[in-house]
Amino acid sequence: MATAGSGERGLRAPRGTFDVLPGEGAPRRELGRIAEDVLERAGYGYAETPAFESTELFARGVGEATDIVQKEMFSFEDQGGRPLTLRPEGTAGFCRAYVEHGMHKRPQPVKLWYQGPFFRHEAPQAGRFRQFAQIGAEALGSDDPSLDAESILLLAELLRRAGVGELRLRLSSLGTAATRREYADELRAFLRAREDQISEEVRARIELNPLRAFDSAHPGTLAVMARAPKLVERLAPEDAEHFAAVRALLDDAGLAYEVDPALVRGLDYYTRTVFEFTSDALGAQSGVGGGGRYDDLVERLGGPATPAVGWAAGVERILLAAQGGRLGGESGDELIFVALDGEGSERDGFRVLTALWRAGARAEMEQGGRSAKGQLKHASRSGAGAVIVVDGTGPPRVRDMRTRDEEIASDVERAVELARDIAGRTPVETAR
Ligand code: HAM
Repeated sequence: MATAGSGERGLRAPRGTFDVLPGEGAPRRELGRIAEDVLERAGYGYAETPAFESTELFARGVGEATDIVQKEMFSFEDQGGRPLTLRPEGTAGFCRAYVEHGMHKRPQPVKLWYQGPFFRHEAPQAGRFRQFAQIGAEALGSDDPSLDAESILLLAELLRRAGVGELRLRLSSLGTAATRREYADELRAFLRAREDQISEEVRARIELNPLRAFDSAHPGTLAVMARAPKLVERLAPEDAEHFAAVRALLDDAGLAYEVDPALVRGLDYYTRTVFEFTSDALGAQSGVGGGGRYDDLVERLGGPATPAVGWAAGVERILLAAQGGRLGGESGDELIFVALDGEGSERDGFRVLTALWRAGARAEMEQGGRSAKGQLKHASRSGAGAVIVVDGTGPPRVRDMRTRDEEIASDVERAVELARDIAGRTPVETAR
C-alpha cells in the first residue's frame, strides 16, 4: 500500500488516501475470497449499495450526536442542490435498501455481506485513513441470540483465517434505547458531580453524549469512570437474559471474550449486544472489526420494526495486523515465461503464450526488449518454474529453471505440456 504524498513529482492523491500498486493487491484479493468463503457458507449473500447516499440517511441512521455525523462526513451538494454524503459506514445504507426493496417480505432473517470503500474525514495516521475498505455482514429480521453469536463467530473465523494475531474480543450489552436514556441521565448526574476531575472535552459532552466519557484516555476521567455506574448492570430483565443467552452460545463455541462495560461504539444505532475485536499487533488504532445489534434502525428509517445484527472489519487494519501471515502467499501454480530469441520470434512466442493460457497455465512473454541473458534473469526473478525459448525458426526449447536442463519440443503443444509438467500443479488443483 502506497500512502498519499510519498511520490516524487506531479499530482498527489488526497491526504489520508492510498494507492494499491500492482504486486501489492494479492493479500487484499485473498482476504475478499476468504470473506466470501466464510460468509457464503453461512448463508450470507453478497450485496452492494451506492458509495454515496442522501446526507439525511446518515444523520438519522448513524446519529446526529456522533463524531462521524458531527465532523467526519464528506458531504456535498449535487448539481440539483441535493445534499449527499460519501458513506462513512454501510449499515444505514443496507437498512435503507431493506426498506426500499420491501425485503421484510423475504424469508427472515435476510443475511448479506459486503466489501467496498468507506469515507471518514479523520486525522490520518497508521491504520486510519480517509478512504478505507470494509468487509461487513448484516442479518436483518430476527432478534434470536443465536444470530448475535453467529455474527461474532463469523467475524472471529474471518480474522483467524486471515492470520490476524493477538486478538481480543470485547463484549457488552447496551439494552434498549429507553434503558440507555435512563442510564444516560444517571451518568450525567454522576459526571456533573465530578466535573472538576474530568477532562474539558468530556465535560463539554455531558449533555450530548455522556457515554463517550468511557472512551477518554484522560487520567482524571479514567479514575472517575472506573467508579461510574455501568449500563450492563442496569439492563431490563429480558435484555439481561438475551445477553446471557449470547454469552452461553459463545461459551459453547469455545470463543474467548471479556465482558467490558466500558465498550462504547462510535455509532448511535446499537441496542443490546455490542462487540469489538482488537489486535495488539496494531498500534493506537487497535480496532480490527466490530458491530452489534441495531433493533430500532430499520424502523427509524421508515421501515417495519426489524431487529438486526451485524459487523464491519477494516481491510487495511486486517492486512496490517496479519503482516507476515499467510495472506497473498504463493498461488500454487508456477509462472511459465516465454523467452524470445532473435528476429521474427515474437509471433511464434505470442502463439505459445496464448496456447499456455488456453491450457490454464500462468504465463507471461518477454515484452521489455531484454537480451537473451536478461530474459532468463527476469524469468528467474519473476519466479518462473519453466521457460519456453522461441527463436522463430527452430522448434521451441523448454528450460527447467531449477535444473537448467533444456529439452527440445517437437511442436507448440508438446512445449506447453513439458513446461506444465515442470511448472507443476495445475491452477485448478491449487485454487484456495
Ligand atoms: P466501525 O467500528 O465504525 O463500525 O468500523 C468498523 C471497522 O472499520 C473498524 O473496526 C476499523 O477496522 C475500520 N475503520 C473505521 N474507520 C476507519 C478508518 N478511518 N481507517 C481505517 N479503518 C477504519 C461500523 O462501521 C459499523 N457499520 C459496523 C456494523 C455493521 N455494525 C453493525 N453492522
